[in-house]
Amino acid sequence: MTQVSVTGQVVALLRAAMVRPSTPEGDADAQRLLCAGMSIKPPESRRPSIEARTRFIDDRVLAALAAGIRQVVICGAGYDDRALRFRTSGVRFFELDHPATQADKAARLAAIAGPGPVLVQADFSTDDVAAALAHAGHDPTQPTLFICEGLLVYLTRQECDRLLAALAERAAPGSELVVTLAVHADDQDTELVLATANAARRTASTEPWRTILPREQHLAMLTRAGWQLAECDDSPASGIPATSGRGSLLVVAHPAPLR
Ligand SMILES: C[S@@+](CC[C@H](N)C(=O)[O-])C[C@H]1O[C@@H](n2cnc3c(N)ncnc32)[C@H](O)[C@@H]1O
Repeated sequence: MTQVSVTGQVVALLRAAMVRPSTPEGDADAQRLLCAGMSIKPPESRRPSIEARTRFIDDRVLAALAAGIRQVVICGAGYDDRALRFRTSGVRFFELDHPATQADKAARLAAIAGPGPVLVQADFSTDDVAAALAHAGHDPTQPTLFICEGLLVYLTRQECDRLLAALAERAAPGSELVVTLAVHADDQDTELVLATANAARRTASTEPWRTILPREQHLAMLTRAGWQLAECDDSPASGIPATSGRGSLLVVAHPAPLR
């Protein structure tokens, strides 16, 4: 993609209005600062699900830091502010996203005081994520918190498989993966669900949804890639009629012991 992510801006703008925790060294105003000058008006219908997943993942970051994890890798980071909000001495944040979005984020970070994340330019449809992380200085012998928030739905199933396997390859014992999954009811046709959902989205031409699956099928994708499920919560659906059968899962997984 050659343009900055609009969906990333929508999520960031909704988050900028939230009251959230931060670490003692962190910047509680980071999300608002990162959103400076964004002119998009985010749809209110998205707010409940964005708020729920933000709280869930913020809690996992704070728990990981408290447990002594010193590396956080955020895939498809967009305008995620956690590297600034949860800044902690000795902890490295790595953020991966398309080059265009990373360039815009770099400019925004330059205007904000204090150390920020290591920005990695990567396209998950073509690039070797394990190699990109190695090149950026990520240490696969130390535990890492990996975050894929609002990302997998934009990748093909094959790209999801490759990304999840690459992260498992870099996951030392004690690592954790937090991921959001878009799911639909078992009796629905996957291609029809995708077509209907994209037809209702203004950003579908540039950032189409590509992977929405029945719950068990989506969870199986994680286990196939080398992850063991630890927690799976339903996120509140928003902007979706209750009868549509679509929803979102908030999932925590750990590296499978026998890989
Ligand atoms: C909905 S946004 C979510 C951003 C961020 N995770 C958050 O929750 O604030 C999706 C992000 O995934 C990124 N993305 C989508 N497909 C990608 C790909 N193939 N390679 C790299 N990044 C991708 C987009 O650029 C965008 O920043």
